Amino acid sequence: MTPLENYKRRHQQLSLQIEQHNLRYYRDDMPTISDYDYDQLMSELIHLERDFPELQTHDSPSQRVGSAPLDAFEQIQHRQAMLSLSNGFTDQDILDFDARLHKQLELDDQRVFQYVAEPKLDGLAVSIMYENSELVYAATRGDGKTGEDITQNVKTIANVPLLLPAQAPEQIEVRGEIFMPHAGFEALNASRRANDKKIFVNPRNAAAGSLRQLDSRITARRPLDLFIYSLGVVSDPGFSNSQIDALKKLGDLGFPICPIHELVDGAQGCIDYYQSLSLKRDELGYEIDGIVYKLNRMDWQQSAGFIAKAPRWAIAHKFPAQEKTSKVLAIEVQVGRTGAITPVARLDPVFVGGVTVSNVTLHNKSEIQRLGVRVGDTVVVRRAGDVIPQIVSVDLSQRPTKTSEFEFPLVCPECGSEVVVSGEGIISRCSGGLVCGAQLREGIKHFVSRKAMDIDGVGDKIVQALVVQGLISSVADLYALQYQEVLALEGFAEKSAANLIDNIERSKATSLPRLLFALGIPQVGETTAEQLATHFGTLEAISMLSQEKLEAVPDIGPIVAMSIVQFFQDQNNIKVIKTLLDRGVQYPAIDVSKLESQDTLPLFSKTVVLTGGLESMTRSQAKQKLQALGAKVTGSVSKNTDMVVVGTDAGSKAKKAESLGIKMLDEEALLELLSEG
Ligand code: IVH
Repeated sequence: MTPLENYKRRHQQLSLQIEQHNLRYYRDDMPTISDYDYDQLMSELIHLERDFPELQTHDSPSQRVGSAPLDAFEQIQHRQAMLSLSNGFTDQDILDFDARLHKQLELDDQRVFQYVAEPKLDGLAVSIMYENSELVYAATRGDGKTGEDITQNVKTIANVPLLLPAQAPEQIEVRGEIFMPHAGFEALNASRRANDKKIFVNPRNAAAGSLRQLDSRITARRPLDLFIYSLGVVSDPGFSNSQIDALKKLGDLGFPICPIHELVDGAQGCIDYYQSLSLKRDELGYEIDGIVYKLNRMDWQQSAGFIAKAPRWAIAHKFPAQEKTSKVLAIEVQVGRTGAITPVARLDPVFVGGVTVSNVTLHNKSEIQRLGVRVGDTVVVRRAGDVIPQIVSVDLSQRPTKTSEFEFPLVCPECGSEVVVSGEGIISRCSGGLVCGAQLREGIKHFVSRKAMDIDGVGDKIVQALVVQGLISSVADLYALQYQEVLALEGFAEKSAANLIDNIERSKATSLPRLLFALGIPQVGETTAEQLATHFGTLEAISMLSQEKLEAVPDIGPIVAMSIVQFFQDQNNIKVIKTLLDRGVQYPAIDVSKLESQDTLPLFSKTVVLTGGLESMTRSQAKQKLQALGAKVTGSVSKNTDMVVVGTDAGSKAKKAESLGIKMLDEEALLELLSEG
């Protein structure tokens, strides 16, 4: 064999190996080699091609690395139009769609149609053409007839097959959606933020921006993914006779197919599927904006035909939009119980992500600057899942002529005290302390809240009235309130006044963690309060601790420790605590002598994440048990996570754990771990 033939063979070997690893990684989620070893293979391939350019075929895996910039995208005529979908929003829309199809196909209503229900992926549609098993071009949808040639960019997406197996039809055009999964989106934005680059407002935008690069080396570095969901031109007319069969065959050819799809019966089957998937929407790890129902039988699809730009045989059942536009009516600031001043945008109420939003936090001064938002602006509001609503962008083209930048107040709008700015201009605080009515009101609301002293019946209005009338100037004054004083307040009658006094009286018998949490020590939430209580047993002991002693408690870092020390150095706080105890607030002391030292516990210093459902207990029970063994249980997977417990229907967290190589436990392994402890 000549040396060149040897290199050629090695090149083929490497290409095949890399393709197989790509499939294992991207299609099957089951990589069998480390990233390092993969990079070694790729590097050898690229070096070979550099030395012997004749070896570089256009379907070589090296093509995914990207190439030098183009001047502009060429145009590509779609051989078969790329259509869009009609939308439905209510169950009735789906029933109507199904009834219409029955009419069009002249089949009686008793006959139940089968549909394939699949997620409507929120990315960018792409058409990819293969001839003789080779990828020949990839195009955007464009106007449906003509798209842009994004072949070089699409080739960089790792799960796009560059070469199909021999059994593939001579010509096959596949269509699907390119998108950016949540984890990749977050990571991309984090790195852009760190490099002072503009961040992408949502994964779809990020995917579009990444695909529209003339320099495909940039696309190659972006975490893009692809799912194929339909066919375009196929040379073999008998390739498939139903949508479900097409998905199966496309999968067999090596195309990435969304694993979430199901053959369902009739409109009711569609609606049931919609409901069950709506609940899992936030766990998928990528954005979807509805469910698509496609009539399964292709001969019936053909008979049903098209209207204008959409097929009659399919419909998108949309989820409530997670992004809407609205107008900023005002920007106001709120003063919290620790004096933190938070700007809030008052919006023209808008229904987004399933709720009506009329207030959105703007967090701080630098967030307002980053967004460049002004009163009168038209803004895009986003609310996804349980995440608090936020303004993601400002539509500058809609800005009215006379607007001005928001001026952050120099004095507290509530008490007129000076506003002190710290944390590189991010944190603004009212320096008024107890003088500030807003801080007092927020402090009382926190003190009476359910997880604190749990005093029922003290709503916003009552707190306001108590403070304005001078009946309360610290939380301790709640315990000096007289029945007659309450009765005199607006809205109170004999019974309600007596109830309130009764509730206040009953709250006196409390627990140390509750009392500690209720005091509203900055940085001390429920969990820290619990830790402090179990470690030191009494309020008096806690009030005298040094910074070092506090830092020795797991999870208490220097910032929290300092905040606790400062709180107890303030004589006003000591006075309030003393008055509370004098007026009868009490808790059973905790015997700390019997407490096991944390560092001897079996899971001491281990960070565990729970994801998915468990059969033998709830997640919160599992959390408690793990904590009892010394583990720290957190909500998100990172490189600091030691173990992830993966229950049923686990979503992106399990995937992330797998990609980070973190130890994963199933329920059985969890039970074993708990029983060992
Ligand atoms: S089928 C003729 N299936 O939605 C049928 N489209 O509003 C054409 N999309 O342009 C599309 N997920 O970008 C289909 N599972 C899915 C989809 C899907 C997302 C997008 C696609 C299309 C748009 C139509």
